[in-house]
Amino acid sequence: MTTNMDNNIKITFQAFSVLIFFLLHLPNHVASNTNNEPWLTTTEHEHEPTPTPWPEQFHALLYMNLTTTHLQLSDLWYDWPKGRNVNIFQKQLGIVLYDIEWNNGTSFYYTLGADAQCQMVDFGVGIPRPDFLDGAHYLGQVVTDGFLCNVWEKVEFIWYYEDVVTKRPVRWDFYDGISSHVMTFEVGAVLPDSVVQAPAYCFIDPAVENASSTLSRV
Ligand SMILES: *[C@@H]1O[C@H](CO)[C@@H](O)[C@H](O)[C@H]1NC(C)=O
Ligand SMILES: *[C@@H]1O[C@H](CO)[C@@H](O)[C@H](O)[C@H]1NC(C)=O
Ligand SMILES: *[C@@H]1O[C@H](CO)[C@@H](O)[C@H](O)[C@H]1NC(C)=O
Repeated sequence: MTTNMDNNIKITFQAFSVLIFFLLHLPNHVASNTNNEPWLTTTEHEHEPTPTPWPEQFHALLYMNLTTTHLQLSDLWYDWPKGRNVNIFQKQLGIVLYDIEWNNGTSFYYTLGADAQCQMVDFGVGIPRPDFLDGAHYLGQVVTDGFLCNVWEKVEFIWYYEDVVTKRPVRWDFYDGISSHVMTFEVGAVLPDSVVQAPAYCFIDPAVENASSTLSRV
């Protein structure tokens, strides 16, 4: 059961990062920077700390460093009750890309404006549960981005840094080297439904085909 859930987490995030690679037109590669962390302070804990579950609804502004040296901002709107996870990416000096992920497994990726494009993808798995870090392996404490954090690793896929004092997430890294730094974290913030309505051109098949070829060149 746990394995099944772990796989779902892995597939969800994996599908996401694979898609990002696709969008950036990059070959896959495995980064090794997160696997070996000699600077971690491992102290003796009677009870190892466990990660704080994600709030059911929050808004976070993320500063993301992609493996390509490209940077982007993401407005992350996680909403478990509404069954959606929204990323609005501002690529540095580039496009704004909407990524609307639904718990039924369907995700929409689209841009707005003159050369608007859309791609609909069925990943077959839902969004991460608020407790998706359950069972993560505790690694110890480290100062990152200037905050003293507890660090966990889960299924060699995500490295998660949580502020020791406030219990807020500070940073998370994926196995492929994409690193997200949490700049704001507003618990309870909800994105209006109107923003997440996929545009009409997402539902026209030939456009979808063209969208994928266009987006892959971005
Ligand atoms: C992005 O990450 C790479 C690899 O860790 C690092 O060398 C680079 O300095 C980072 N860039 C920024 C702007 O954070
Ligand atoms: C999943 O939900 C979204 C939003 O309600 C909808 O647009 C999409 O068609 C649904 N996908 C499936 C496979 O039902
Ligand atoms: C998709 O692209 C092809 C070739 O560039 C073009 O002929 C076709 O009209 C496009 N379809 C749509 C819906 O834009």
